[in-house]
Formats: sequence, C-alpha cells, structure tokens
Amino acid sequence: MHTNAIYCGDCQRVLANTVEFPDDSVDLVYIDPPFFSDRQYEVLWGDGYELRAFEDRWKGGIENYIAWMEPKVRELRRVLKPTGSMYLHCDYHANAHLRILMDKEFGESHCINDIAWCYRGGGVPSKGFARKHDTILFYAKGDPRKITFNTQYVPYSEASQALVASRGGTSIDGKKRPLSRGAHMPDWWSDINSLQTWSPERLDYPTQKPEALLERIIKASSNDGDVVLDSFCGCGTAISVAHKLNRKWVGIDVSPTACKLMAKRMHSLGLPISAGDVIGLPKTYEQLKALQPFEFQNEILRRLTGRVSAKKSGDMGIDGWLIDGSPVQVKQSDGGGRNVVDNFETALRRAKKSRGTIVALSFGAGAHEEVARAKNQDGLEITLKTLKELMEEE
Ligand SMILES: C[S@@+](CC[C@H](N)C(=O)[O-])C[C@H]1O[C@@H](n2cnc3c(N)ncnc32)[C@H](O)[C@@H]1O
Repeated sequence: MHTNAIYCGDCQRVLANTVEFPDDSVDLVYIDPPFFSDRQYEVLWGDGYELRAFEDRWKGGIENYIAWMEPKVRELRRVLKPTGSMYLHCDYHANAHLRILMDKEFGESHCINDIAWCYRGGGVPSKGFARKHDTILFYAKGDPRKITFNTQYVPYSEASQALVASRGGTSIDGKKRPLSRGAHMPDWWSDINSLQTWSPERLDYPTQKPEALLERIIKASSNDGDVVLDSFCGCGTAISVAHKLNRKWVGIDVSPTACKLMAKRMHSLGLPISAGDVIGLPKTYEQLKALQPFEFQNEILRRLTGRVSAKKSGDMGIDGWLIDGSPVQVKQSDGGGRNVVDNFETALRRAKKSRGTIVALSFGAGAHEEVARAKNQDGLEITLKTLKELMEEE
C-alpha cells in the first residue's frame, strides 16, 4: 500500500484496487462525506478567485444517498485492521440513516460512540432551535475491547485543581485524583469551534474542518507510525494533521481541485509533493472531457492561466477571465456553432470588452464564419480554441 499519497477519483473505485488497498491495512479511517444537504459549495481562494468545488446534491432522496454510501463504507471497513476504527462525520440531514448503515456494516455492538461536535457561529433558523452540532459516528472493526484507543482528557479548571491541591490531592468524593490529566473526555465536544472566516488555518475550501477536531480523533485512535485514511479528504485536514502527528496517511478525493489543494497543503508542510504527484488526476482527452462541469471550467481556466468567474452560474455568458482582463466562455460540448459566438458577442459588449476566448470540444463552420464577421463588421476579436489545441499547448 502506498502511504503518504493522494489519490484523485471516486473513493469506491480507488479502494476497490485490493493490491493498492489490501484488507486489514489501515489503523484509522475518518470520513466527512457530502452531507445530503442540497447545497452547491464553492471555493473562495485567498486571492479572491472562486472555484466551484463539488455539488452536494442528491436527486432521488435519502435512499439514493445511502445506497451510494453503502459500498464505500463496506470498502472502508474491509481495509481497516481488526484493531482499527472508523469515524464517520455527518449531521442531522442523514445521521439517522448513516447510523443504521454503520450498524449494519460493522455490527450494532461495534458502535463505540455517537459523538456530538458542538460549535458556535453561523446562521440561525427563523423557526426551531439553532443547529449547532454535527454527529461523528465512531465504530470499531473488530472486538471493541481490542481497538487502539488513547484516552483523551478534559483538563481540570484552575479552580478545581486548586481545590484538589488544597485537600492534598483528594477531591470532594474523598478519592485521590491525579491532578495533571483532567477528566475523561465525554462524547460531546464543545471546546473546538468551527472554522471562522478569520481563522489562519482556513483555506476557503467549503466544509473545511478544524485541525483541532482531527487532532483529537487521530490522537485517540492511532499511534505514531499508524496509517490514517480519509477517502473524502477535501482540502486535506485529516492528512495534514496525521502528518504533523507522525502518522502515515492516504487522502482520496474525487475533485481534482481538492486534490491539487491537498498537494499544495502537504507541500507547505515541507513534503516534496506537487499536483503532479497526485495519483489518478485526469490527463487524457477522454478523462478531461468527462469532468464535472465546474471541474472542467477550472481545468480550462488553469490551462489558460486564467481565473474562474466569481459568480455561481457564470457571469452572463462569461465563465472566467484571462490575465489581460478579457473574458472566457467554456463549452463542454462539441460543434459550438454560430449561436455560441453570437451569444458571446452580446456578453462581450455587456462587459465592454473588445476581445475574448471561447473554448469548446469542437466548433462548427458557422462559428468560424461568425468570428470573421464580428471582426470585420464590429471590430470584436474572438479566439476559438478547442480542448485538443489547449492540450497540445501544454
Ligand atoms: C465535506 S467535504 C470534506 C471536507 C474535509 N473534511 C476538509 O476538512 O477539507 C467532502 C468531500 O468529499 C468529496 N467527494 C464527494 N464524492 C466523492 C467520492 N465519490 N469519492 C471521493 N471523494 C468524494 C468532495 O469532493 C469533497 O471534497
């Protein structure tokens, strides 16, 4: 098994490679899959660029979502060592259904904890109590008495420490208490807040989790040198913390945008990793053509050294901008025709620009004719580029 590696792809397909991911090879799995929350997340980069990252949208209801999760959970359980544990991070949208799924796959008696991670901030509903906790389901693969577990402690308050010390190390119930360790950590955690906009660790990846949360989980359920796997890794919080704690790690994500960000994050920790080291990043024409629409746009704009438009659904026909400030439109289809160019001309005029670029899989003759007409009659300079041409330029 490759450790300290980032894989790009659907985790079920990646994990199905039993040579790369043999049975009983991982000490700890943490996953934070899309939450069945019907929201389109976006990435806001530090430099103000915006990328659409992944669509958390499940047509067909919760049954579809659970049917989608089930084989993934099964693969994750398979790769766990008998002493290993899995933490599944979810929220009220699907936690009841995921709990039943985990009971089915791991066995009810293998549920160690149903952890409530309580946080502050964010919005409040007009009706109902503010939703301020996520659920983290913690299961043991094998005998729950034999799992790797390092008890975590809540430090005693200064007042209780002073009180116990004044009684010569004896607390109110008359028992001797070790002062340094604190109380046994309960299954509700309210001391770790969600990431705030000003948080220095923030990478502006949607749903990024705080490192402190992962630190608690990884410290509790693994030891130095153990293997930690996150198969819905996002911007790589789990693998970054695993690395800092001297664990080996594997990160998987279906989004090339996320994987490239992960590579950058691990590079910033001093590891010799770049986007080129991500295993399975789409590279061929067929792979690029099959990307999710927002990933396709990201990839095209990256190849043009441009940036993606800041608006969610395209900026009235403009999907991005080149460094020289000229607009770009991206079509993930074949045979872009006269009407495509025509619409782009309108977008150019609206943006008060006299030149721009359209990228498509291919263009029809009508498109080239319209580009020539727009230049001669209206002085507009429109460049047509195909994906193949862009690939040849790299
Ligand atoms: C909630 S985010 C994870 C955020 C992460 N915990 C962090 O701190 O950055 C869920 C991630 O699952 C990824 N994802 C969705 N479907 C996937 C699949 N089939 N295989 C692997 N990753 C997937 C998304 O691209 C997204 O990055």
